[in-house]
Amino acid sequence: MTITNVWRVKQAGGEQLGSKLSEAARQLREGGLIAFPTETVYGLGADARSTAAVGRIFAAKGRPSDNPLIVHIAHRKQLDELVLPYPQLAAALMDRFWPGPLTIVLPVRAGALSPLVTAGLSTVGIRMPDHRTALALLVQAGCPVAAPSANRSGRPSPTLAEHVLEDLDGRIDGVVDDGPTGVGLESTVIELDGDYGIRILRPGGITLEALQQAAPGAAIDSASLEEPEAAPRSPGMKYTHYAPQGELELVQGDPEAVAAYIQGQVEAARMRGEVTGVLAFEERLARYEADCVLSLGSEADLGAAAHLLYAALREFDGAGAQRIWAEASSGQGIGAALMNRLAKAAGNRIIRV
Ligand code: TXA
Ligand code: MG
Repeated sequence: MTITNVWRVKQAGGEQLGSKLSEAARQLREGGLIAFPTETVYGLGADARSTAAVGRIFAAKGRPSDNPLIVHIAHRKQLDELVLPYPQLAAALMDRFWPGPLTIVLPVRAGALSPLVTAGLSTVGIRMPDHRTALALLVQAGCPVAAPSANRSGRPSPTLAEHVLEDLDGRIDGVVDDGPTGVGLESTVIELDGDYGIRILRPGGITLEALQQAAPGAAIDSASLEEPEAAPRSPGMKYTHYAPQGELELVQGDPEAVAAYIQGQVEAARMRGEVTGVLAFEERLARYEADCVLSLGSEADLGAAAHLLYAALREFDGAGAQRIWAEASSGQGIGAALMNRLAKAAGNRIIRV
């Protein structure tokens, strides 16, 4: 059992922020496990060069060792030490989207990182988070920081420091608490396809539409979406992630038919004595009568829905929901990432009505 420190940095100004982070940064530098906020979700950081430190990430999360970690940097100049020369397209994407929720898979430089970070691959996923506290911590730590989402494996990613503690209190050295994260879903993970193509391995905070403006041939890798059996190019996509404790079904189709189907299922489940949950958009919230009805906001604002999703999945667990139904949304823009995470939470149980 480790004592988990909590550093609250909310509202700390420039210099104050630096001094509030100095102990967390020191522990990171010395092999500690420190959770910190980013613009997507909270990450669980360790010095990416240290096999002892990175090994503790896998142990604390219960993460399979064949699932590689994303490395976080604060400055482009850190890149040359970590990766081999990369195509011009990668540099153009960094210019356009960094700092920001885009992870770019690049060829790793031999010996630059602990082999646990790359899980034996010849590539490494790198990103520069768009979050002042994350960047200040990375600068002070002075090392590349490997950081998966700071949840126990199989749980929804944390969008609050409280979520991190729910999963990892006593298993990590500390958490920097700076309130809720922004996007609420993880970064987009891409690899380059030749000199001009982009393959999206995991949809996320930077949308397909935004990437297509930079490279018209950008496309979502089908293994990340429809074909769970196909060998995924991003190892993490093969695990049932983000699963709530209850059984979740994602329901797609005409909104009226979806609402009627879900309420019918809820009633049948309640007759069986099951605790029920519904995850729905504001527009139809009043249609549902279940033990736990949670809103994703308006379906006209999927950014807000992305922000709310993981906290809602945790709330169903807290309510002891055994059967949960979720309304599907459009897959446009951030909707692609939202539907990807919901389909995973549902273990691909997608009903079309
Ligand atoms: O927003 C995020 O990306 C958050 C914050 C903390 O930065 N991090 C995050 O990390 O979501 P994690 O470990 O939960 O997800 C990393 C994903 C996994 O699906 C993994 O398989 C993929 O990135 N990945 C990492 N390195 C890769 C590589 N070299 N090639 C292909 N996929 C890679
Ligand atoms: Mg994760």
